[in-house]
Amino acid sequence: MAAAAASIPVVAIDGPTASGKGTVAQRVARALGFYCLDSGALYRIVGLLALERGLDLDNGPALAALAAGMQPSFEDGRVLLEGRDITDAIRREEVGRAASRVAAVGPLRVALLALQRQQRRPPGLVADGRDMGTVVFPDARLKVYLQADLHVRAERRLKQLIEKGYSANLTDLLRTLRDRDQRDETRDCAPLVAAEDAKVLDSSALTVDEVVARVLKWYRGD
Ligand code: C5P
Repeated sequence: MAAAAASIPVVAIDGPTASGKGTVAQRVARALGFYCLDSGALYRIVGLLALERGLDLDNGPALAALAAGMQPSFEDGRVLLEGRDITDAIRREEVGRAASRVAAVGPLRVALLALQRQQRRPPGLVADGRDMGTVVFPDARLKVYLQADLHVRAERRLKQLIEKGYSANLTDLLRTLRDRDQRDETRDCAPLVAAEDAKVLDSSALTVDEVVARVLKWYRGD
């Protein structure tokens, strides 16, 4: 890594699906005036394109070539790819499932490394995902591993979906979250695990405000 990039601070926030990482990362980035990287969105984009192009979800070379050639942009909460707004498309359930499958493919993960590291720009970056602290930004200034009880996460996801007008039920969500966690935790390449030097935070009984306050306190060292 270039010496200049190494001096740009990174806050890495990792954890299982629906642990609240995305919301917390955005709020922490806003408070610090930093850029924000939602690394899951990159896996979702690859999942979407793979489905649209009929690619096998375990075809390493094809997925890596897809990722190496894509130039998504993130503007005002929207995700754009070649002039197309794919913000809502990448949040679809089937795309999430495809993302979770392609995320286990080693060559794809390697192909996405450069794209993720390019987001490290002054004055700093808050990055959320599964391997931000372990693989992508091992020198992050602060690493947080955010976890929450499975039932709490499923309830939160259910509430979000219902608020957005989607139909969903708790039993299906529990199964989906459990499957995704298991796939992320047991894959060979960059499995979901807390970095040795991560601060582990269980948000089951905490509000978003409390989690954000805790992360900012750690970052500021008080
Ligand atoms: O975070 P989100 O649920 O949007 O991520 C979609 C999928 O991408 C996850 O289920 C996970 O398998 C994968 N992912 C990953 N590594 C990351 C971010 C996401 O493997 N850094």
